[in-house]
Amino acid sequence: MVFKKDFLWGGATAANQCEGAYDVDGKGLSVADAMPGGRERMSIISSPNFNWDVELTNYRYPNHVGIDHYHRFKEDITLFAEMGFKAYRFSIAWSRIFPKGDELEPNEKGLAFYDALIDECLSYGIEPVITISHYEMPLHLAKEYGGWKNRQLVAFFERYAKVILERYAHKVKYWMTFNEINSAMEFPALSQGLIPSTGSDDYTNRFQAWHHQFVASALAVKIGKSVREDIQIGCMQIYAPLYAFDSNPENQFASQLKQRAFDYFTSDVQVRGYYPTYIKQLLKTYNATMPVMEEGDEELLRDNTVDYIGFSYYMSMAINEKSAEETDPAAGNLMEGVRNPFLEASEWGWQIDPLGLRISLNDLWDRYQVPLFIVENGLGAKDTIDEKGAINDDYRIEYLAKHIQTMKEAVEDGVDLMGYTPWGCIDLVAASTGEMSKRYGFIYVDLDDEGNGSFNRQKKKSFNWYKKVIASNGEDLENN
Ligand code: BG6
Repeated sequence: MVFKKDFLWGGATAANQCEGAYDVDGKGLSVADAMPGGRERMSIISSPNFNWDVELTNYRYPNHVGIDHYHRFKEDITLFAEMGFKAYRFSIAWSRIFPKGDELEPNEKGLAFYDALIDECLSYGIEPVITISHYEMPLHLAKEYGGWKNRQLVAFFERYAKVILERYAHKVKYWMTFNEINSAMEFPALSQGLIPSTGSDDYTNRFQAWHHQFVASALAVKIGKSVREDIQIGCMQIYAPLYAFDSNPENQFASQLKQRAFDYFTSDVQVRGYYPTYIKQLLKTYNATMPVMEEGDEELLRDNTVDYIGFSYYMSMAINEKSAEETDPAAGNLMEGVRNPFLEASEWGWQIDPLGLRISLNDLWDRYQVPLFIVENGLGAKDTIDEKGAINDDYRIEYLAKHIQTMKEAVEDGVDLMGYTPWGCIDLVAASTGEMSKRYGFIYVDLDDEGNGSFNRQKKKSFNWYKKVIASNGEDLENN
């Protein structure tokens, strides 16, 4: 048996993409609620004309309804339990607990919702794995305070983290602070609340925002340890190997610099507890200045490092900055690079690279020697229902089986891997495009990009396949 006996097999979602009920039981608006649906989503929110003072009438806002997990979570968790989930990664919507973000008292109805969600998981022996902030800071904080570049957010987050950790940590052992904290290198709107009209084009603001998030994350670790000694709090980032396009040393060096900036900077600080010595070079590359720090910040970062690294893995990228050969830009999970001629891509252009996962696991393990947790992985694809009413998503099974196989090989290489929670275990709204048709789930949700559908849940072929994978602790990956 390759994987540990208590390996955390499960699935992952995020509040803003599945709960819906965006204005129910006192919830305030979040930045995700202000993001339109459709493939132009990222270009709209990254345009100089966009501001957070939106009317919410110009477009469709699919996150407002999500898949109505808020009202249907019991049915969904029953299905997760049927697959044999040992863990369910979900996030708490900050704006359910503090609707505007700067209140002194939390919203009890929001807290009660997560009591019920957690208890439902526990009743099936499913371990909740909670992300404290997953792309949904209260809109008010982005609009009135300018997002994470403002130091005041640290105190607001601290209050929020304290409330939820004190309330739930006796039942919940596994936590993560900020989802894909490094994604701000390309798209700071999602995790930092920063857009061009509030200064995202100036990288000094992004680094300042990161510093505040590092401090806030360290404070959450500190609070967590004080409420539960054996709590496990991780960071969470995107990890993608950024291969040199060819053996030109110039490209090799360019890829090394990009990996530092994208794959390592945030984890270097959160795992090691201090800024890396390459920070000066990094700031220079982005024409930014060193973030302003307050007294005590450095000690706080040093004394409150994370217990593990949670990361998402979907794809790899190739970097070609110096070779004469022309290369095509490739689409990616909030990152930039070129097409790798050795790889196939998903319908959304994300380059599929199972071996890259083994490389990633080994790289992260060699660098940090802390446990690793793959908290997102999967294939976004269009699913169709055949004439017999079945959804035969063999392409998804193939993608996942190949990735689990390389996970196994990485464990045999010596990597300490805690668990695997594939993304969007039930179909939900895509983060980068706001589409429903970009589906990741083992469970189909009857809802289209225009918002039509019954919201009914239906098992795909991958449902029974994943059930078998979990039951065999990853030994049986056959699609039969
Ligand atoms: C990650 C996010 O970027 O990848 C998720 O943490 C997101 O929120 C997932 O949904 C897949 O990306 P997308 O854009 O296909 O939903």
